[in-house]
Amino acid sequence: MSGSPMFSSSAYWDGRYRAGGGSGAGSLGRLARFKAAVVNRFVQDNRVASVIDLGCGDGSQLALLELPRDYVGVDISPAALMRCSARFPNRLFMPYEMIGCLPAAELTLSLDVIYHLVEDTVFAEAMQSLFALATRFVAIYASNGEADWPAPHVRHRDFTRHVAETQPDWRLLAHLPNPCPFDPKHPDDTSFADFYIYGRPAAACTLHIPAAD
Ligand SMILES: C[S@@+](CC[C@H](N)C(=O)[O-])C[C@H]1O[C@@H](n2cnc3c(N)ncnc32)[C@H](O)[C@@H]1O
Repeated sequence: MSGSPMFSSSAYWDGRYRAGGGSGAGSLGRLARFKAAVVNRFVQDNRVASVIDLGCGDGSQLALLELPRDYVGVDISPAALMRCSARFPNRLFMPYEMIGCLPAAELTLSLDVIYHLVEDTVFAEAMQSLFALATRFVAIYASNGEADWPAPHVRHRDFTRHVAETQPDWRLLAHLPNPCPFDPKHPDDTSFADFYIYGRPAAACTLHIPAAD
């Protein structure tokens, strides 16, 4: 279940974007609309004033998000960041290596990213950053649970167990399954990811479940 020791997730993603590829099927169509509906309503209902998006991708998903001005998109791929900067000149984008300079935000987002963190050290570091950079909420859209997968850039992990073991100051407030569970016959229109919303132990949140698309 551990990824190939030769695989580099950062090289994979930057190479993919440089070759003209995109963020993937989860950032398009009804899957992207579902993600946007959940995030947009969550931001509005919980009056979220600042957001850090860890793994913002090529901007396809961001184009559907209604987020506060105080937003920073972060990605491991310089090619993805260049695309985002060109498409959203009024938004701030930053390479992952520079997140140490960022002040925390009320909400951190990790949408369709965690199961691409193939290397153990990359996964552990990214999870640490995701929680360290949030003051109120962490919203994750990912698969959860170990499972073999044929694609080298995908590694499914039991990330909720990792969070329970490493982030004692946070608790899982809500789990929202996606309405189009993975179907191998329709891999581009279904997903193995669900929403998981974390908050501080005393926190509560309002989470609206969007109508089926
Ligand atoms: C499937 S795309 C999702 C993009 C976007 N969040 C969305 O929902 O459309 C995964 C993104 O995660 C980025 N990524 C992979 N590893 C990363 C890391 N360690 N830190 C930040 N971004 C990373 C990739 O470059 C890619 O843009």
